[in-house]
Amino acid sequence: MSQPELAVIVPTYNERENIRPLLDLLARALAGVNYEVVIVDDDSPDQTATFAWTQTTAHPNVRVIQRINRRGLSSACVEGMMSTSAPYIAVIDADMQHDESVLPKMLAKIKTEALDIVIGSRHVEGGGMGEFSKARVWLSNMGKALSRAVCRADLSDPMSGFFVLDRRFLMEVVRSLSATGFKILLDILATARRPVKIGEVGYTFRTRQFGASKLDIVVFIEYAQLLLDKALGGLIPASYVVFCFIGALGFGLHISIVRLMIASAGWSFGQAQWMAGFVVMTVNFLLNNQLTFRSQRLRGWSLLPGYAVFCLACLVGLYLNVAVAESVRAASVWWLWASLAGLVVGSVWNYGVTSLFVWNVARRRLLKAEKAREQSVQP
Ligand code: GDD
Ligand code: MN
Repeated sequence: MSQPELAVIVPTYNERENIRPLLDLLARALAGVNYEVVIVDDDSPDQTATFAWTQTTAHPNVRVIQRINRRGLSSACVEGMMSTSAPYIAVIDADMQHDESVLPKMLAKIKTEALDIVIGSRHVEGGGMGEFSKARVWLSNMGKALSRAVCRADLSDPMSGFFVLDRRFLMEVVRSLSATGFKILLDILATARRPVKIGEVGYTFRTRQFGASKLDIVVFIEYAQLLLDKALGGLIPASYVVFCFIGALGFGLHISIVRLMIASAGWSFGQAQWMAGFVVMTVNFLLNNQLTFRSQRLRGWSLLPGYAVFCLACLVGLYLNVAVAESVRAASVWWLWASLAGLVVGSVWNYGVTSLFVWNVARRRLLKAEKAREQSVQP
């Protein structure tokens, strides 16, 4: 096979039923183009990857990358894009929600107008949201407004997961991508250090026929983390910021509880302080479990030992906080700075220790993947 002009990257997770119809649609749409398809599957339990191999007889221009112990739409796209030598690279969802028949138009546009990227847009003339719930349209518009702030470009559909880019442009940005979460396009645009030459082609977003969308609250949190990560220039982990934000909420809660217990329940200050400390630690634990460390959250009985370790770590953190604040204060630094220094040391300790020993990031991920493999059925 001569070098393809276009590579079509298809990230998949549990998309087995969509593979065959998608490959047929692509073959029809791209009949006049020298193209290849790269399916990047994250070891889906429904054996999408194994099934995709069986299609390579009918479609010899299809390759499969099966990633083990990995998850994530953005990072899957990046790995697919880096595996091809084609000068133009398209990304399209496997579920046929994106209209593959506009791909030739997108390719022609990027070539003739010498653009960096052409985005399949649901909002320009000729595009539309199909039959979608008000909630989804609203969510999409919200994300649009937010992302406009980050990538400094006025796009009609910056949330799109459907685009064609020039490989030279990819190489400019690829090393600085966050590659977390769902929003690969936004990531690319926000990373570019120069004005990007962007084109748009409209299409109608179809409804999904097989399988389920993976877009849920986790995706929203990851999206918030991506925006944060870009805003912070990647210097501080976004999950640390979320952790601190929850800590700050806890501070507000603490003060309110103490006030309430003294004023209306007639408790002593000491009693109220203990009670508030206990409640806040519990709430913080649960919030961090649901938000900050959501992808490896504890469930059921494993919440209990996790909670115990969390409390223990936070007590040590509090001790460190006070010790640091006191020693800084002893050097006759203004009390506010001393207190802040204590807070920073304490929160970094809490974040580091709990992420390691309560939510044990690496170990859990491996265990989960192992379980998925065991449960998966043979095709
Ligand atoms: N490899 C891999 N790993 N693929 C994944 C993963 C993952 O962890 N999660 C999702 N995918 C694949 C799905 O199998 C699908 O092919 C594609 O990514 C999009 O996932 P959907 O679950 O269908 O997302 P959606 O329809 O809610 O949102 C899509 O369309 C929007 C509108 O264009 C995404 O592309 C959004 O980014 C986009 O805004
Ligand atoms: Mn979809």
